[in-house]
Order: sequence, then structure tokens, then C-alpha cells
Amino acid sequence: MTHGLVTASYIGATILFILALGGLSHPESSRRGNLYGMVGMTIALLSTIIGKVSGNFEIMLAGMALGGGVGIVLARKVQMTQMPELVAILHSLVGLAAVLVGFANFMDPAATAGLSHTEVVIHEVETYLGILIGAVTFSGSVIAFGKLSARISGKPLMLPGRHWLNLGLLVSAIWFGKLFLDQAGTGAGLVPLLMMTAVALLFGIHMVMAIGGADMPVVVSMLNSYSGWAAAATGFMLSNDLLIVVGALVGSSGAILSYIMCRAMNRKFLAVIAGGFGTSGGAVAAAAATGGEVVSVTADEAAGLLLNAREVIIVPGYGMAVAQAQHTVYEITRALRERGVNVRFGIHPVAGRMPGHMNVLLAEARVPYDIVFEMEEINDDFPNVDVSVVIGANDIVNPSAQEVPDSPIAGMPVLEVWKGGTTIVLKRSMATGYAGVDNPLFYKENTRMLFGDAKESLDSVLKDLTS
Ligand code: TAP
Repeated sequence: MTHGLVTASYIGATILFILALGGLSHPESSRRGNLYGMVGMTIALLSTIIGKVSGNFEIMLAGMALGGGVGIVLARKVQMTQMPELVAILHSLVGLAAVLVGFANFMDPAATAGLSHTEVVIHEVETYLGILIGAVTFSGSVIAFGKLSARISGKPLMLPGRHWLNLGLLVSAIWFGKLFLDQAGTGAGLVPLLMMTAVALLFGIHMVMAIGGADMPVVVSMLNSYSGWAAAATGFMLSNDLLIVVGALVGSSGAILSYIMCRAMNRKFLAVIAGGFGTSGGAVAAAAATGGEVVSVTADEAAGLLLNAREVIIVPGYGMAVAQAQHTVYEITRALRERGVNVRFGIHPVAGRMPGHMNVLLAEARVPYDIVFEMEEINDDFPNVDVSVVIGANDIVNPSAQEVPDSPIAGMPVLEVWKGGTTIVLKRSMATGYAGVDNPLFYKENTRMLFGDAKESLDSVLKDLTS
């Protein structure tokens, strides 16, 4: 394969990746977007394998078979609710790859052969930054995986003087960078490189450990962005244009997503990274929550409330994903619409455990897109709603975000379901949600709790609606 053909394939793949990102921005075009991405990746892989790799094919093919095999097994086994953890662990692999490529590049004398001193310095800076970003991404993503899969507590780790610790780590990374560059081109510098790697790994761990439950969405999208920049840095080290462009696409789209998430959570990006939200307030929220009584209803009574309503807003959350209740939700929506009830959906930007989680589930169940609304579009309508139905959601409908100033979720915009006529909340118990905060919504006068697994409860409601 000639150099020109490889370049042409890379340009083609880049265009397909950009089209993929465009497609993924809307549920209707997301399938097409995915397809573009798959074709782009196939072209990228084939042109790199045929056009760039010049030897050791057996090792490469063995690696691809092993990695691909593990990937297929994982993808087939993973539950929809485990997707965020899978994404986090995949990010960690991108970071690890950047670290390994960086060290291999540093140790390979051929990588700098024939370069001028300035070019060598630039190359060493690329290597240093690649390993730095890769190591932060790797350790941060492993901790994020632990938190998302509940292997590590969601509570923020508040070390005394944690901001000083972060500052110390940053300064030492810069200091080791100077030591490393002072020895550029001599083949020495392994010690400062190893020291910086240890510092970066520590920083990644500390950064994610210090982040409270409800702020995890920002971290997930931020690590997504880092993994892109780590890939771009690898592209620079390997002089591979496609990797640079793709890394930059992932890095910048992750950064935009982090910004959107921060806005959704009403957080400042730097404040989230510094951590520390969610240390107190649980007790205050709990006190606020004990102000009223919990009133439970049966599926039959819930069906009656829905049949007597004209306007209904359904708010799905993580519990709907756990219960896999989306298909029954669709059937109930259809049954109510056939009876002239106006049913709409309100989607919180951080509902569930990954961006767009609820939209994916509702699209899978064929809920029409035109009745699915973002939080800003629908939040003002709750006072005109007869019944709001909260399905396995908790943090995203928690009034203490507005009412309890030192709550861990204070300031986070929430769906104001309690402003409607009656709120039906489906969940199994009085347990808290991801942020670990009690929810005063459950004690409000107009709230009715329908306890049980969301799928089982909704199946009974559907039976009552259609009988
Ligand atoms: P949560 O606050 O986690 O609440 C989910 C509720 O669903 C739980 O209180 C649970 O109560 C209930 N539930 C679980 N399984 C159920 C089942 N089978 N049937 C019925 N109910 C069930 O979820 P949310 O309101 O969607 O809020 C999302 C939270 O996750 C936010 O704090 C957000 O910051 C965080 N987060 C989001 C993301 C992204 S990107 N979306 C990523 C990481 C973290 P019971 O146990 O009593 O049933």
C-alpha cells in the first residue's frame, strides 16, 4: 500500500469519524452514526495494518486476536446497567496504552535517530506529556470503574490538605519534567520519567477518590476527554496523523460533554476536579425528609390515578434501567395515549449512569422521540401536570437540591415533579440514590409510593389499565 493510499484512507476514516459524531448527536441518526464509526474504524485498522506495519505480523495478529476475543466476550456479557463501568475500564486501557507506547518510544534509540537537538526535545516533550496524561487517565479510570461498580465507596475521600497535595503533585510533575528534558537526547532520564509516572498515577487516584457520588458524571466525561488526549499524544509519539486527529476528536468532544455535564449539575469544572462536594449535608437532608408521612399505593390505585389524568409526565431514572422496565413503560404510554391522556417524558441530563442512558432505553422501547423532552424544556410544565410518575429515579427529583443549602447535591437542577397534582414514585424501598442523600419528595403530601421492582409494579399497572 503506497503512502498516498494510506493518507487517502486516513482522510476517509477521519471524515467518517466526524460524520459518526454528528450522527450520534440525535437518537434518530445514532444508528447511522454508529455505522459510520464502524466503517471508519475498519478502514483505519486495515490501512494501518497493511500500509504501516512492516514486520512482526504474528505478534500483532496474536495481540489483536486476544484483545478482540476479550472484547467480544465482554460486549456480549455486559448488562446495559454495567455499560458505564465498561466504558471507564476501556478508558483506562487507552491511558495504559499511552504509557506503554511512551516508555517503548523512550527506550527505542531508533525513535530519535537522525533528529536535530530541537526535534529531539520536541519528541521528549511529546513522550513526557503522553505518559503523564496516560497515567492520570489509567489510574483515574480504574478508580472510576471501582466507584461506578460499587466496588469502592461513592463517598468522597477528604484527605486533610488535599489541595496542597494536588499542588505538590503538579509541581513535582513539572520538576521531574525539567530533569527529564535536561537529559534529552542522552538516553538517560528514565528515573525522572518513572518518578513522574508514579506522581501521575497517584494524582489520578486522588482526583477521582475525592469526587462525591453525584459529581461522577463529570468525572466520567472528563476521563473520556483525557483518554482522547492520551490517544492524540500517542499519535504524536508514533507520528500517526490519524491517531492525532481521532484523539483530538475524542478529547474535544469529551471536554464539551464535561462542560454540558457541569452545567447540568450547576458545578464549576475546577471545583469538581478539586473534589470535596458531598462531605456533609446528608444528616441535614435526612432531617428535612422526616417532616411528613410516607403514603404508599397499590398498582390498582396508581392505574386509577393515571386513568383520571389528562396530563402525565414520566421521569425515568437508574431504577428503570435496573428493572429493564422500558418496554412496559412504552405499553403504558400507548394505553394512556389511546385513552386521550397526554403523556410526555422528562429526561434529566445525568439520569441513570451514563450520558443519554434514558434516551437509549426509551429509543430501544420505541417510545416516540417527539414526546421525550430535556429537563429545561419541560421543567416549567409540572404545575400543569395531573400526575408525575417517577420510575426508579431519586437524586434527579430530590427537592433538597433546592431546599437544603449544604446538601451534597445542593444547587443541582432537578425535575420539579412535586409541583404537579400527584406524584407516583416507583422504587423498592426508602433507600437513597447514587449520591446517598435522603429524599424529602417521598414525604410530601401529594406523593404516593408504589413500592416494588419497577418492572413488576408497572406490569401490574398495565394489567389494571387494560383490563
Ligand atoms: P439514583 O439517584 O441512583 O436512584 C435510583 C433509584 O432507583 C434508587 O433510589 C433505587 O431505590 C431505585 N431502583 C433501583 N433498582 C430498582 C428497581 N429494580 N425497581 C425500582 N426502583 C429501583 O438514580 P437517578 O435519579 O437516575 O440519578 C442518577 C444519579 O447517578 C445521580 O446522582 C448522578 O449524578 C449519578 N451518576 C450519573 C451518571 C450519568 S452520566 N448519568 C454517571 C455516574 C453517576 P430502591 O433501592 O429503593 O429501589
